[in-house]
Amino acid sequence: MYAFSVNGNPITYSGEDKKLLRFIREDLNLTGTKDGCSEGACGTCTVLVDGKKMKACTIPLSRLEGKAVTTIEGLSKREADVYAYCFAEAGAVQCGYCTPGMIISAKSLLDVNLNPTLEDVKKAIHGNICRCTGYKKIEEAILESATFFRENREVPDVEEEPKIDKRYRRVDAQPKALGKGMYADDIRIEGMLSIGISTG
Ligand code: FES
Ligand code: FES
Repeated sequence: MYAFSVNGNPITYSGEDKKLLRFIREDLNLTGTKDGCSEGACGTCTVLVDGKKMKACTIPLSRLEGKAVTTIEGLSKREADVYAYCFAEAGAVQCGYCTPGMIISAKSLLDVNLNPTLEDVKKAIHGNICRCTGYKKIEEAILESATFFRENREVPDVEEEPKIDKRYRRVDAQPKALGKGMYADDIRIEGMLSIGISTG
């Protein structure tokens, strides 16, 4: 039996040992943590364990005794508002599959350093792969998030209508940043069968 917490909620687990990613996605239905590879290579599954970033697909529940896990769903409202706004405005969310993991890695840095250098940011997201953005916009988004937190800056209202002569963020950028984007692997239908195909 293992006792730990996820986003502040105490968990007691007595089933067969399994990887944390499987547990949070399938048992807790917290699908904001994405599964990009299941083998520790891509970083989409990044969570915090006692404040340190870790890849949830590599950690068995048996290693979590007494530990506190934070997923993208565990951000405070202020954190969610700032990260979602800064990532969307910077154009750092394209397909958005990597973004929750990027934000958790950003949080691991900004929780302890609100004056990061670009090098600090690069180091914080080392191990998080993005196939879309080229990283520059992600780095800008994290540096801007640090400014918002440091200066206690208010997040602007982004409800205005898009205008033809004005740059506009992707309409789904903010929900995707917070793990609310629905990809095929996130769809849950009662009684659904799923088939895994191995190419190895
Ligand atoms: S899903 Fe965990 S590192 Fe890729
Ligand atoms: S993998 Fe598509 S936005 Fe990063």
